[in-house]
Amino acid sequence: MEANVNVRDFEAAAKAVLDPVHFDYFASGAQDELTVRANEAAFRRLALVPRILRGHKPPRLGRTVLGSQASMPIMIAPTAFHRLAHPDGERASVRAAAEAGVIMIAAMLATVAIEDMADEARKVAEEPVLWFQLYLQPDLGFTEAIVRRAEAAGCTALVVTVDSPALGRNERGDRNDFHDLPPGIRCENLRESGGSVRGVVLSPEISWRHLDWLRGITRLPIVLKGVLHPADAELAQRRGIDAIIVSNHGGRQLDGTPPAVDRLRVIADVVGGELPLLVDGGIRRGTDVVKTLALGATAAAIGRPVLWGLAAGGEDGVARVLDLLRIELLNALTLCGCDSVESVPRDLVIQGAM
Ligand code: FNR
Repeated sequence: MEANVNVRDFEAAAKAVLDPVHFDYFASGAQDELTVRANEAAFRRLALVPRILRGHKPPRLGRTVLGSQASMPIMIAPTAFHRLAHPDGERASVRAAAEAGVIMIAAMLATVAIEDMADEARKVAEEPVLWFQLYLQPDLGFTEAIVRRAEAAGCTALVVTVDSPALGRNERGDRNDFHDLPPGIRCENLRESGGSVRGVVLSPEISWRHLDWLRGITRLPIVLKGVLHPADAELAQRRGIDAIIVSNHGGRQLDGTPPAVDRLRVIADVVGGELPLLVDGGIRRGTDVVKTLALGATAAAIGRPVLWGLAAGGEDGVARVLDLLRIELLNALTLCGCDSVESVPRDLVIQGAM
């Protein structure tokens, strides 16, 4: 694992150890995977224009997100089924996150229960920050029960994924006939209803009314994940939503959506300053994170890199991925002439292919 010096090395290492069907599940996206590729490619069209001779101390990486203190502006995006990557599954990822002081968004479709993830995190950190990702279910009783579990486990925000009125069409999955979890692994947050992923309903009937309902039953901050249109960001702000994750779900839902990073500035122009903006999709480098900060993000989240670390080395693998990104971010900020993640100027980024 020491030979892995960047996130891409971890991807190769994960590919070498994973069952190819499971590797495909993690790596793939919808249909032609145009958006999967575009997410990463977008960062190559953004160039950094550093400032010189600024005479500052090493940059400070800490950031407060929705009142929670994070050691750096890199978070763990919610991804399903960590036990397909490693037997320890989400226990390993949450320990690595808590140890690193990184905010982790636990997936509703996790293969370790939210209560067990919270217990695990508290073994390694006094105040780990765990948010809970939710697919709003037409069955409001079921939705409320799972919200109560997340609250009782100590989660400090709810992340509602709103880009999924249906499941994106995953052709690698179809080709591999991969549609359910193998025996012995279940969705532990859904155990009351049998633990099968098939118990989750993705419905086009979910609307703003459901968000209003959710606002009425919980005091936790609500984060909308999967916003790409500035008009939706504005609606979210008016409805009292607390933060937004600009995201196309890592290219796994609607193929042909633009790279999330390319939507940041237009959304920041509408709601910027008042609503914290988070972003995910294709972030593989510390320089990528700097670019998102310059474009108006408060923090950036990583999905697949965590899965690659987990597959390659369990908890240590995730820890190493987080550490590499932290080192890269520190290096990039220093080279850019920035003394903190708060002081990344807009004009640090220009369009410029490389
Ligand atoms: C995801 N993502 C996701 N999002 C969500 O809200 N709920 C979920 O259950 C999942 N599950 C999931 C599984 C896998 C295997 C992947 C790769 C992704 C999307 C995820 O939160 C995030 O938006 C993307 O992963 C970000 O892109 P990168 O970092 O993977 O390029």
